[in-house]
Amino acid sequence: MSRFEEGASALVTGAAGGIGRAIARRLAAENVAMTLTDVDPAGLAAVATEVAELGGKVVTEPGDVTDAGFRKQIVARAVGEFGRLDTLINNAGIMVGGTPESITEDSWDHIYGINARAPFFLVQEALPHLIETKGSIVNQSSVLGLLGMPSGASYVSSKAAVVGLTWALAADLAPHGVRVNVVCPGTIDTSMPWTYVNAALGSGREEEAEALLVARQLIKRLGTPDEVAAVVVFLASSDASFMTGAAVPVDGGWSAS
Ligand SMILES: NC(=O)c1ccc[n+]([C@@H]2O[C@H](COP(=O)([O-])OP(=O)(O)OC[C@H]3O[C@@H](n4cnc5c(N)ncnc54)[C@H](O)[C@@H]3O)[C@@H](O)[C@H]2O)c1
Repeated sequence: MSRFEEGASALVTGAAGGIGRAIARRLAAENVAMTLTDVDPAGLAAVATEVAELGGKVVTEPGDVTDAGFRKQIVARAVGEFGRLDTLINNAGIMVGGTPESITEDSWDHIYGINARAPFFLVQEALPHLIETKGSIVNQSSVLGLLGMPSGASYVSSKAAVVGLTWALAADLAPHGVRVNVVCPGTIDTSMPWTYVNAALGSGREEEAEALLVARQLIKRLGTPDEVAAVVVFLASSDASFMTGAAVPVDGGWSAS
């Protein structure tokens, strides 16, 4: 049984990544047609093939969400292809560390451009269509949008901005029947945290890296992409019809400890 209207369509950014792929699989299971986008064309094609094999209706548009013309193009493609847009899932993101001494203006603008600025302007582009369907938006923050960490000034603040963006948009869009929520994952087993921790510790310290990543959760393991996707798709669905402006940790208890 689907928790989405018949014919519903979703637009998912960062769909070639670990969590994006899991979101696409879950949407296929609920019979939601999807427009998937990512800067990684090969990864995107692989996810689309997988989703199509599951019986999902899918189109792909590779490109960069920081590009205004591209944002216009993907919204037009989604609506052109499926006739409507019910859900926008702002999932694309990057994680880059840096000490207060080392962060440059360029690296700051780069991370903000992808993590915080693009999600807002994609909402702006998609808004008329989401208002028409009384749809929903799910943003991807992080537990590190709720808590700090060393060498996290640019990442943590960009993800905190996504939480603030969600609160503000929830207030603006509730009168239009559009819900806006945000997910705050803990350490999830995709390439992202491994790349980050290996860069911080240096190579040859894999056991130490794993211990460090696992220790942060009360539930002493990494989360799976599907455990995040389950909450993303729940928030997008009619099961979450009384939820807006919620920042939901999916973090194995990290934020509670
Ligand atoms: N994995 C974790 O531990 C974790 C924890 C908290 C939050 N998150 C967030 O979840 C989201 C998904 O992360 P993931 O773990 O799947 O990482 P991932 O690196 O596997 O996926 C991120 C995807 O975003 C894409 N992307 C990056 N820049 C882009 C751009 N400019 N335009 C379009 N696509 C772009 C990448 O190509 C990649 O496929 C991110 O926003 C991330 O910050 C992840």
